[in-house]
Amino acid sequence: MKALVLSGGAGTRLRPFSYSMPKQLIPIANRPVLAHVVDNLRAVGISEIGIVVGDRAEEIRSVLGDGSSLGARITYIQQDSPRGLAHCVVIAREFLGDDDFVMYLGDNMLPGGIAEVAAAFHARRPAAEVVVHKVADPRAFGVAEVDAEGRVTALVEKPQTPVSDLALIGVYIFTPAIHEAVAAVGPSARGELEITDALQWLVARDAEVHAHLHTGYWKDTGQVEDVLECNRELLKAVHPRIDGEVDGQSELIGPVVIEQGARIVRSRIIGPVIVGAGTLVEDSYVGPHTSLGADCVLSTAQVEDSIALSGATVQQVRVRASLIGRSAAVSLAAPEGLNRLVVGDHTRVEVAAG
Ligand code: G1P
Repeated sequence: MKALVLSGGAGTRLRPFSYSMPKQLIPIANRPVLAHVVDNLRAVGISEIGIVVGDRAEEIRSVLGDGSSLGARITYIQQDSPRGLAHCVVIAREFLGDDDFVMYLGDNMLPGGIAEVAAAFHARRPAAEVVVHKVADPRAFGVAEVDAEGRVTALVEKPQTPVSDLALIGVYIFTPAIHEAVAAVGPSARGELEITDALQWLVARDAEVHAHLHTGYWKDTGQVEDVLECNRELLKAVHPRIDGEVDGQSELIGPVVIEQGARIVRSRIIGPVIVGAGTLVEDSYVGPHTSLGADCVLSTAQVEDSIALSGATVQQVRVRASLIGRSAAVSLAAPEGLNRLVVGDHTRVEVAAG
């Protein structure tokens, strides 16, 4: 079995991060979302992985390479522009051959893995197995109508009036039957070839499409709040480890990971927290659910419930629920009390009163 991971989307909802980094590379618990995706595929025995990439191909390639560091063999498949999930299957035809495959949206996080849906597929090998999840507003998703045996009886992409609350959440397992279906459907109202339409094409021809209800944690990391929430979820499972240095005047409470070369000086850290390699935390407080990337500097700062990417600096300020980009600097204003801001496009700054 192979896998097709889709990473061509633009990530407009994750601006400004998606300007400098494809959303699939945003670190959650200090690892890119795509690395978590590959982990889940490896855990069900899949090593042959095709990644559909768009105009951010080079950055994705530079992080994942040929996949060997993750125990996988990665083939990159270039998509000229985002033309829909079914279009990705069309352009991956040669890579996929006649194998069954998992199709996995590269910005989706399922920390519990995909072993259950893989087992459900192998048990009966329907034409397609889709993962569904109960959501509050199904209108934003592909929606499945499912009978008592779990057989899908109809699918609609982004329905105005959903027939159920079961959303397709970005993990699908296909037999080669999908190739005829993706070739048969035309563009949707948004001009894309929809995988939901291809699945409906199969259902209309009495092919078995089965739904696997995912009840565990799932997140589409499309927005900053989702990234932070997902980070909190993953940090829950962190195993404490100290590979860096912690001085005698510092205190670590709860699960804390201090990576190699990191230094904790006169500081208090309350886990779950990860401090990345080479990062310096001095005279600071780091609160729960925080991931600091590599080579950050925190000095006389308080940071909690946040993610700082590599090279970020936080000095003399208190921040929470924040996502701080690569080599970004956050520091105290000059004494006259006015904030000084140098912020990029689509950046969001929330300054405390006073
Ligand atoms: C896509 C699919 C949709 C699915 C969703 C899951 O939507 O078209 O069926 O429910 O991913 O995240 P898009 O993100 O392209 O709007």
